[in-house]
Amino acid sequence: MKKILLINGPNLNRLGKREPEVYGSTSLSDLEEMLLKKAGTYDAALTAFQSNHEGDIIDKLHWAEDDGQDGIILNPGAYTHYSYAIRDAIASITIPVIEVHISNVHQRESFRHTSVTAPVTAGQIVGLGLMGYELALQAMIEIIKERK
Ligand code: DQA
Repeated sequence: MKKILLINGPNLNRLGKREPEVYGSTSLSDLEEMLLKKAGTYDAALTAFQSNHEGDIIDKLHWAEDDGQDGIILNPGAYTHYSYAIRDAIASITIPVIEVHISNVHQRESFRHTSVTAPVTAGQIVGLGLMGYELALQAMIEIIKERK
């Protein structure tokens, strides 16, 4: 069975309540539950993790490698735009990472137009709402199959 880790970064615990016009009205737990079910249909086990702390996200990325996770779906939140530490953590592991952003960051403030993490990921999905996570899961299954 494939093992996929979902990591959501800062403020994503407030999904559903936080700027619903940008991020929608679905809560993080509803999103995680939906992805858990979807992963089951691909014969994959999904572990969901959220943290508002940079170091905890880095520790989780390292843990994923040591635990033998097969793929990571990561929304680093605002860390996307400036965390060289998270970028280095992604580069330090061999597991494919897909970066997801719910909102279309390119239509927003200019500081959101840069991702320091994207260059070390397998790919990025931006601006498709929560569907982006489902697409990332689908893509990750294919990437894992190709690697095995
Ligand atoms: C986000 C976009 C980031 O710019 C922002 O800081 C977030 C969420 C998104 O999913 O659209 O926290 O990553």
